[in-house]
Amino acid sequence: MSAATSLELPSSVELGMGEGGLSVARVAGPGGTAEVYLRGAHVSSWAPAGSTPVIWMSEQSEYAPGIPLRGGVPICFPWFAGHPTDATAPSHGFARLADWQLVAAREVGADVELDLRLTDSEATRASAWPHRFEARYTITVGAELALSLTVTNRDAEPVTFEEALHTYLAVADIRQTEVGGLEGALFTDRLSGPQPAESEPVRFSGETDRIYQASTADTTVTDAATGRVFSINKQGSASTVVWNPWIEKAAAMADFGDDEYTGMVCVETCNIRDDAITLAPGASHEMSVRYTVA
Ligand code: BG6
Repeated sequence: MSAATSLELPSSVELGMGEGGLSVARVAGPGGTAEVYLRGAHVSSWAPAGSTPVIWMSEQSEYAPGIPLRGGVPICFPWFAGHPTDATAPSHGFARLADWQLVAAREVGADVELDLRLTDSEATRASAWPHRFEARYTITVGAELALSLTVTNRDAEPVTFEEALHTYLAVADIRQTEVGGLEGALFTDRLSGPQPAESEPVRFSGETDRIYQASTADTTVTDAATGRVFSINKQGSASTVVWNPWIEKAAAMADFGDDEYTGMVCVETCNIRDDAITLAPGASHEMSVRYTVA
């Protein structure tokens, strides 16, 4: 974090203290505004200029050591959900709990770009995924939000990892929300197992926790209550997760308001399970996603 203090920042970027005393980069460019917590390289807000927020954050989010923020865009890496063999390892990996370094910030036309970096440390090398790596994350804030995560294997052996940009989108009413683009794709319901493909957009009437594999499709989220449509265009990603906790799971989470499930949906750009990435020594992989609002 301290390395960021000597960084030259454009006038549209301010580095300050956010909730819980955590370092946050506040971006206010001509195209849009955003906040990025350096802990987890966590985008906690984004709105195109003149638009209401697109990214959802829980009012109940904790901002404390060892606890990920609830909402925004958590980066899940190098594993997704619980670790398969180490029950003590944190859910969704260590990247969303780690302090990333802000290495560059620049204005490009009406956009503002931030580059963040995370490498292995003593703590990650002692973790359930002990490999040497470098992760670079570029966040472009403007009328669109673009996120690009590039992971390089700095180990002498091949390494395998999972990754997800676990974006929480703000909707007015989940019961009137549809996710399009996944029609015809097989998925695994994390609650009831493998499922046949559906011919309709995903609609929500209960807890929804789906992993679409071998799925490179772009998606849309239509929020009928406001008429807003979010387009999600991804590259380098072969899995998509769609999640809403609904009533009971929301009530069981300490950092999620009981009624907040009505105002969010996660459509996650991922490479998980059978789509996990294996990199030869020195090799890199980029996964990216772009959000637009109409
Ligand atoms: C989703 C998973 O991606 O993340 C869900 O599919 C999980 O099963 C959700 O509940 C939230 O995870 P966490 O670790 O942030 O509570």
